Order: sequence, then C-alpha cells, then structure tokens
Amino acid sequence: MDISAVRAQFPILSRQIYGRPLVYLDNAATTQLPHPVWRAMERYYTQTHANVHRGAHYLSETATARLEEIRQSAAAFLGAESSDEILFTSGATEGINLLARAVEPLLTPGDRILVTAMEHHSNFLPWQELCRRAGCHFHVLPLTPAGEPNPEALHRLLALPGVRVLSVTAVSNVLGTQAPISDLARAAHAAGAWLFVDGAQGLRHGRLDMKELGCDAFAFSGHKMMAPTGTGALYVNAALLPRLSPTAFGGGMVDRVSREGSTYAGAPAGFEAGTPNIAGIVGLGAAIDYLTALDLGEIARREASLLARAETGLRALEGVTVYGEPKRRAGALSFNLEGVHPYDAAGLLDRLGIAVRSGHHCAQPLMEHLGVTGTLRVSPAFYNTEAEIDAFLAGVQKVREVTGLYHG
Ligand SMILES: Cc1ncc(COP(=O)(O)O)c(C=O)c1O
Repeated sequence: MDISAVRAQFPILSRQIYGRPLVYLDNAATTQLPHPVWRAMERYYTQTHANVHRGAHYLSETATARLEEIRQSAAAFLGAESSDEILFTSGATEGINLLARAVEPLLTPGDRILVTAMEHHSNFLPWQELCRRAGCHFHVLPLTPAGEPNPEALHRLLALPGVRVLSVTAVSNVLGTQAPISDLARAAHAAGAWLFVDGAQGLRHGRLDMKELGCDAFAFSGHKMMAPTGTGALYVNAALLPRLSPTAFGGGMVDRVSREGSTYAGAPAGFEAGTPNIAGIVGLGAAIDYLTALDLGEIARREASLLARAETGLRALEGVTVYGEPKRRAGALSFNLEGVHPYDAAGLLDRLGIAVRSGHHCAQPLMEHLGVTGTLRVSPAFYNTEAEIDAFLAGVQKVREVTGLYHG
C-alpha cells in the first residue's frame, strides 16, 4: 500500500490541530472519508439527484438504478446470497433496533435472549428493552479475564430452555476482541437460537462472508468504513427474512393501502419506509468500491500491525494498564494511566494534536466488568502511519511525566 498516495485522498489527515499535525487515532468512533466518496456524492447531487422508487422520469430512474446497484455491491461485499437480504439503515443502531422490533412477534413470554458483557449499548439496550416488552429473560454472558466471551458460561446458558437469540459484537469497540462468529453461530443454531451480529466494528478486518459465518443477521454502519454518517445496512438471511414483521410504516413499503386494512411489500422495500438517505447510500457504495480496490486483506494486515505496535509500546511503559489479551484483537485497544483520569489524559493528548477516545465508550456493562469508570482507547486505521503510532506513544509518555509531576 502506498501510504502517501492513500493519505493524499484524505485531506483532513493533513490538517493541524493547535499548531501540530493531526494524529487521528479515533477510527473506532468514526473513520475519515476519501476523495472518491465525496466525489460520488457530489456527482450524485449535481447530476442525478431525484427521489427513488417513485418517479417515471429519467433522473428518478437513474437514482433508483444506482441505489439498487449499491444494494447488489453491498450484498457481494458481505457475501450475501441475494441483494434482497440487504436492508438500508442509518447505521448499526437502527439496524439492531429494527431487528429487535421485527422478531418481537416471533417470541413468547419466557423466551431468552443472550448478549455478551462486551456489547456496545446499541447491541444491549434493544434486546433488554425487547425482553421487557415481550416478557422474555435477558442474560448477559460473562467474559474471561482475557476479554473473550466465556465458553463455559455460553454452554451453560445455551442449555437453558427457550433461548431464541444470541446477539454478539463482531469486534469489541473497547477491547478489540474478535468474536468467533462461526463457532457462535453453530452453538446458537444447535440450541435452536438465531445468531445476530453487531458488525459496526467488523468490516475492516478482512473479508467477511455471511454464508460462511452462518449468522442470521448482521448490522453495520457506513461511517466506520469510510462512508458518510447516517448510512449502513442490516443483512438478514433469506430463511429468516420472510418471517420478520415490518417495523416502520409509510411511503414506499406498501403493497396495497385501503381504509379497511393494508398489506405490505416484502423485503427489502417493506423495511425501508420513507425516502432513504440516497446521497449517503451513494457514498456508501463508493466506500465499498474504494475498500475493495485497496484490498481488504491488506487493510486488515496493516491495521493489525499498527495496533500491535501501539500495544507493544504501551505495555513497555510503566504505569500503563492495557485491558484484555484476546486471542484475536482488531481495530481498538483500551488502556489507562495509573492515577490519571482518562478524560484528563485525552485532553492533554489532544493538546499535542493526538485524537483518541476516552470514557465508557457506550459500553458501561464492560466498564463494570473491568472495574473502571472509563478508559482511553486508541484505534488506528490503514491510513495511519508508524510515525503517528510513535507520536502517540511519545504523547502518552509525556502525559505520564506531566501528570506524575502534578501528582507529586
Ligand atoms: C460495536 C458497536 N456497535 C454499535 C455501534 C453503533 O454504531 P452507530 O452509532 O453507527 O449506529 C458502535 C459505534 O461506536 C459500535 O462500536
């Protein structure tokens, strides 16, 4: 990968913050957008903007055709069997909420839903709320000290009667733990449950194939893979899809509407009420093309090597706690500096031009497991450089020195 050429496509990476070069290491929160993504949206707005699935005129037909092409490229990107299995959403949060509402009529009181203790709130609350509404039991699978879903606890919980859903994150946004999705899918299916995946952090760590993974549904956000915010999709496999009920009602999702009663379209239209984020979806399509052309395998190798460099460097520093030691770590790493609040440390790093995340990362149950109120998180992307990781490590060292003086 020619890193200078790659970086040249992301103008924001060459800006200065407080008079210092920006070192952007908060890619688990959101990634930056390359030129081809901007240009695709600009072309769309200046050349073919019109509403989709509604008009018989040239612009509307062109916009509709582009949107449906992107549905096909999203299906190919995820290894889905058919583009009908791809429902466009505003992101992972909407996808998971949609799914939880759509399976609700299939559950009965007393059924069980399992999530893990490393879930983002977006893959925790929709299931907790569903259990409250439907009278189901909500179970949180504990983690091993290494920060992985505990296999014995999983075995025990899956043996309980009435487990219908196991929903897990593909990659923890805090620890970087990569969940063993296909093993979990096999275990869930053997217990008669569906395996749903929160794929928000899961798409830059090598090619995923839904058929090989064997999951029943997979939600992701565009903005964590170089696409604009407010985009994403929910994949639902062809076996489950016809059993789901629509969750939002309005234009574009109907079969026939009358005063006496109405019927609804099947997937995908039946799950996409209202005008979609067309320009955003065009950007998502361009991001899929961009990542595919760059090579997903190479992206994964490069990000793994940057993360390993950060981990090795942090572990070599005194007074630094790195959380978890999962077998496969990707995308993000959490740590704390002894005696320093993560917000203070992140504020000091920010003054050096270094952007990292601090706080509970929308994963309070995981913070409880770790016994902390928050952490610092570093999350490189392929466009970061080794020099930036070293600048980050030097910044952490500096924070230690400065706060060490302060603490006396
Ligand atoms: C693991 C995980 N799940 C879900 C989400 C929610 O994604 P979004 O806010 O794009 O819907 C995030 C975002 O940080 C995440 O990291």
